[in-house]
Amino acid sequence: MMVRASVKVGSAKFVVICVGLLGFALVADFLWASTSSTLPTSTKPSAFVVPSNHNKKKYENATASGRFLAAAYADLDAPQLKWQKMAPAPVPRLDGAAIQIRDLLFVFAGYGTIDFVHSHVDVYNFTDNTWGGRFDMPKEMAHSHLGMVTDGRYIYVVTGQYGPQCRGPTAHNFVLDTQTRKWRDLPPLPVPRYAPATQLWRGRLHVMGGSKENRHTPGLEHWSLAVKDGKALENEWRSEIPIPRGGPHRACVVVDDRLYVLGGQEGDFMAKPGSPIFKCSRRQEVVYTDVYMLDDDMKWKTLPPMPKANSHIEFAWALVNNSIVIVGGTTEKHPITKKMVLNGEVVQFNLNTLKWSVIGKLPYRVKTTLVGFWNGWLYFTSGQRDKGPDDPSPKKVIGEMWRTKLKLNE
Ligand SMILES: *[C@@H]1O[C@H](CO)[C@@H](O)[C@H](O)[C@H]1NC(C)=O
Ligand SMILES: *[C@@H]1O[C@H](CO)[C@@H](O)[C@H](O)[C@H]1NC(C)=O
Ligand SMILES: *[C@@H]1O[C@H](CO)[C@@H](O)[C@H](O)[C@H]1NC(C)=O
Repeated sequence: MMVRASVKVGSAKFVVICVGLLGFALVADFLWASTSSTLPTSTKPSAFVVPSNHNKKKYENATASGRFLAAAYADLDAPQLKWQKMAPAPVPRLDGAAIQIRDLLFVFAGYGTIDFVHSHVDVYNFTDNTWGGRFDMPKEMAHSHLGMVTDGRYIYVVTGQYGPQCRGPTAHNFVLDTQTRKWRDLPPLPVPRYAPATQLWRGRLHVMGGSKENRHTPGLEHWSLAVKDGKALENEWRSEIPIPRGGPHRACVVVDDRLYVLGGQEGDFMAKPGSPIFKCSRRQEVVYTDVYMLDDDMKWKTLPPMPKANSHIEFAWALVNNSIVIVGGTTEKHPITKKMVLNGEVVQFNLNTLKWSVIGKLPYRVKTTLVGFWNGWLYFTSGQRDKGPDDPSPKKVIGEMWRTKLKLNE
């Protein structure tokens, strides 16, 4: 849901000065930046920005609508969990991908910095809790914002962003045989997508939503391809029922013959027009609480919304005891500072009851976590963490690995 604010602005002069400064900040700044206020790209007059952190507290308490706004991005009440710090990944990564197969977590690609992307796979073994077995990705494979899913042996790798900064996506698709560690090609998507929802369902590889080539415009298209044992059984992707809302960074899960799509957003950073390095520049985003489901009817159904809007969760989930467990993410931008706000909770969607609950706090707020579950332990690694307990905006790209004994709600 779009958050609307009607916040009183101080002096006009103050605003003009800030707008000037921020115009500069906007280009200089990416999601890593430590000073990150931006101009609103929204045309909605109701969402004017007061770009000063100092005013934040004052405005939060100023009006009833201030309190309403706070609810959209605030941390949720949650029990403390006991987290254990494990061996860190060989490299920090943001917007990477991960697939768990039994006691192995395959961790792919990702940004190391905004100007450097990884082109290899690291593997974590949950039995002896070590990293090892690094191997290369194909040169043509995307480096971030991939769609990825496994049948238990083969990992299907779909589209994604090729290169650093805010380059666009490639239509190239691949399959990894995790036993031989050999790669094969798959037929390309009809058009490239950026961070689409991806799953295997009823013998077909499904790819839907994501952003279009410019990274920002939501795609509603949904395609599928028959696959078996790491091979495509068809030469072309088939069109399927479009998803009600497009956009990147969603969790996509198949359970009990139903396909679920959770959270995500509309809009994302785009390359600055004319920039030779495709420099990232900020654009309007709307983060979702939406949960959609496809079953036999092949019509999208809407399920109870998430407790808080949540995006950047495509590999941040695990399926445990018929519940989807999601670790961290991002929510609505701070309505006043316009900074990106990270989530610091573990949430559970119980598929027996269709109820959401908040089951615990993370060691810090963090987005694009890569998650696994093994032998009662919930693990997460990688992503980008907050600036600290009092500042939920993103800062350091991490490789840390953490785990906690998971206790689900009924
Ligand atoms: C805002 O309101 C809360 C609750 O009423 C209060 O605890 C807090 O001190 C207030 N903050 C400011 C800056 O006035
Ligand atoms: C993980 O490590 C354990 C203990 O070293 C080993 O027995 C097991 O084979 C490893 N798993 C895989 C899939 O290699
Ligand atoms: C999952 O269910 C089993 C059987 O009821 C139970 O023993 C286990 O504790 C549950 N796992 C979690 C993480 O709650």
